[in-house]
Amino acid sequence: MATDCAKSLLYKEYGDPIAVLQVTTQTIDQLASDEVSVKWLLSPVNPADINTIQGKYPSRPALPAVPGNEGVGEIVAVGSNVQNLCVGDKVVPNGPNFGTWRTQANYNFKDVSKIPSYLSLVEASMLNVNPCTAYRMLKDFVPLKPGDSVIQNGGNSAVGQLVIQLCKLWNYKSVNIIRNRPEIKELKDQLAALGADEVLTEEELRTTQLFKSGKLPAPKLALNCISGQNALEVSRHLAHSGVMVTYGGMSREPLTIPVASLIFKNHSFKGFWMTAWTKENTESKERVNMFNDLALYYKEKKLQTPLHKLVPFNEYQEAIASATKFDGRTGVKYILDMTKS
Ligand SMILES: NC(=O)c1ccc[n+]([C@@H]2O[C@H](COP(=O)([O-])OP(=O)(O)OC[C@H]3O[C@@H](n4cnc5c(N)ncnc54)[C@H](OP(=O)(O)O)[C@@H]3O)[C@@H](O)[C@H]2O)c1
Repeated sequence: MATDCAKSLLYKEYGDPIAVLQVTTQTIDQLASDEVSVKWLLSPVNPADINTIQGKYPSRPALPAVPGNEGVGEIVAVGSNVQNLCVGDKVVPNGPNFGTWRTQANYNFKDVSKIPSYLSLVEASMLNVNPCTAYRMLKDFVPLKPGDSVIQNGGNSAVGQLVIQLCKLWNYKSVNIIRNRPEIKELKDQLAALGADEVLTEEELRTTQLFKSGKLPAPKLALNCISGQNALEVSRHLAHSGVMVTYGGMSREPLTIPVASLIFKNHSFKGFWMTAWTKENTESKERVNMFNDLALYYKEKKLQTPLHKLVPFNEYQEAIASATKFDGRTGVKYILDMTKS
């Protein structure tokens, strides 16, 4: 028996998000005994959401589908067999492709995780993807010690801003590459305020003496979310036996690896995908520890969310259009405010 209605964004075919997304109203089924009903509050718009709607992402949900990989919601009803969750609890998805761009839906209680009450809604809405990606890439590829350098491109991306802050917390030196722009000083200052040790434009990276001069040790770890020529320039600065971890391809160009890099410098080139890590580690101690660490950093104000802008759900097109821009330069992470529908 249907009891209530919810609004959602829906796509029936893959394609340009602005063209294929439509607002629909659906009935919410009566709650099963092992389900909770979640009213979604905030849901970020990430590049992976856009690529999924375009049909260009490895996760291809069955159509029609509701987009939205992460978000924070409030439990508004609980089934009779639900354990450890109550009405009023704030929850986040416990896995990917959740379909959070909707106002309300029912889920098996095991598919959501309660978040500590001290996390703000914005912090919680962006917890699952970018902070975890930054955390894992810094932990899982190279044993880093205090004073070691990490270099990354996309230094101003949401992931990049979290990498900067975690490096600061863990005493690694972060070298952050960004694209040049008219307001470059403001952006450099912003990233420095987050804890960036060095912020260089792509052009400055080509001629920098930062490592040759001994000011900083050559990086053992490089994080790449841009690929193309940018990543190639970054890889030239890797220390002998250093590792480049690729987790994105925002330039839409392939990653080119110089032969000398493999033969003479013993560089390794690896990839990381948070979705795959989460699937393999859903119940792991590492995952629990990671969420505990991140929540604590937010509580102690040692971590701040990437620059963001809340957009009312009924004005979703602004957020989607901006996140879909081919040449980037969005400046902020858009978050859909599902309460304004
Ligand atoms: N593998 C994983 O598990 C995983 C997890 C999270 C994120 N990601 C990926 O990481 C990347 C960043 O995600 P995010 O949420 O942090 O993104 P974001 O906050 O939207 O930032 C996007 C970044 O990409 C740059 N950019 C955009 N278009 C570009 C272009 N055409 N050429 C060069 N640079 C461009 C932007 O620089 P400007 O400001 O100069 O435009 C900005 O630094 C995405 O590719 C995303 O899919 C992967």
